[in-house]
Amino acid sequence: MKVLITGGCGFIGSNFIHYLLKKYRSIKITNLDFLTYAGNLANLKDVAKDPRYQFVHGDITDGKIVNRLMSCDPDVVVSFAAESHVDRSLYQPSNFLRTNILGVQVLLESARQHNIKRFIQISTDEVYGSLSLKDKASNETDPLVPSSPYSASKAAGDLLVKAYEKTFGYKTIITRSSNNYGPYQFPEKVIPLFITNAMADKPLPLYGDGMNIRDWLYVEDNCRAIALLINKGTPGEIYNIGGNCERTNIYITKTILKLLNKPTSLITYVKDRPGHDRRYALNISKITRLGWYPEYKFEERIKKTIAWYLNNQDWIKQVKTGEYLKFYKKHYKI
Ligand code: NAD
Ligand code: TYD
Repeated sequence: MKVLITGGCGFIGSNFIHYLLKKYRSIKITNLDFLTYAGNLANLKDVAKDPRYQFVHGDITDGKIVNRLMSCDPDVVVSFAAESHVDRSLYQPSNFLRTNILGVQVLLESARQHNIKRFIQISTDEVYGSLSLKDKASNETDPLVPSSPYSASKAAGDLLVKAYEKTFGYKTIITRSSNNYGPYQFPEKVIPLFITNAMADKPLPLYGDGMNIRDWLYVEDNCRAIALLINKGTPGEIYNIGGNCERTNIYITKTILKLLNKPTSLITYVKDRPGHDRRYALNISKITRLGWYPEYKFEERIKKTIAWYLNNQDWIKQVKTGEYLKFYKKHYKI
């Protein structure tokens, strides 16, 4: 199987590449990544010399490079590439529109022209917008009501997928997963930020009243779901991938502090994020009918995640100081 992955140097993409290389002996993976601040070659250091894997530096909005890779005839394209952090989208929205909308359109156009049989667009539960405690979990057919420039740009990407289907008959699978956690996640997202801050005895900035709810999915469960969809997903369909694990932010924060044996006095309530979605929850019955279920329990996997950060302090230092960005500037003319 030949797989073209975009955004494979980020959190979920790098976990997915590790997952595929472990699962399939006979596989060829090409990873197209622009190496933004969120793309880290260190995430794939251990597989960089694997003959089944190659890295290509490039931007998904660049039709020339995308066409070159699509003309190598991949059996499947899995597109993770995105600007992915809500807070950044509040002050740099244009980057989000460029990658998450224009980039998706460039990929779709090229994939359609090269007649790529399987294309998986990685989207998010955030496109459904905020739920109240009384609301039912979001279904794949629910309207898109995004709140932030990030979720609006992802929703626009999803709508382009559907427009390509209707206009050109080009069918793409969309996955909408809930919040992932696990190794290699950039410490701007709440779990790695709070783990690394707590490790350094720094304050944990909790937004608003700390009662916002996210549904947490261990990243390997997401990888397993995406791999299943490569084989069993129906082109043209949307699949929610959730962890059946709704937790408040204050619960997540206290759990991290307890496991690291740090005092709750590190919790610092700060001004709320503008437009902060209260709750996300996913109905996952559609993908469970294909035989997938989230296997990992949060209370067990958060321990493993914390252990990963404790064992990878060089990675944390490199990411927090931005050392790798200096290297990119020199070697990739960024
Ligand atoms: P990430 O920010 O860790 O990684 C994004 C990757 O995309 C980086 O390697 C970056 O260099 C690359 N990239 C950015 N712009 C690019 C461009 N123009 N061309 C090529 N590469 C580019 O993101 P993540 O957390 O791994 O998320 C991956 C995907 O999953 C995203 O599409 C995101 O919307 C979606 N998602 C993430 C979560 C989550 O909890 N992290 C939840 C649901 C959905
Ligand atoms: P985040 O990891 O940014 O993911 P998303 O907003 O895409 O769900 O945030 C998860 C939750 O944690 C969200 O409700 C916002 C909250 N949060 C904080 O309270 N403090 C922080 O410093 C961050 C980054 C997030």
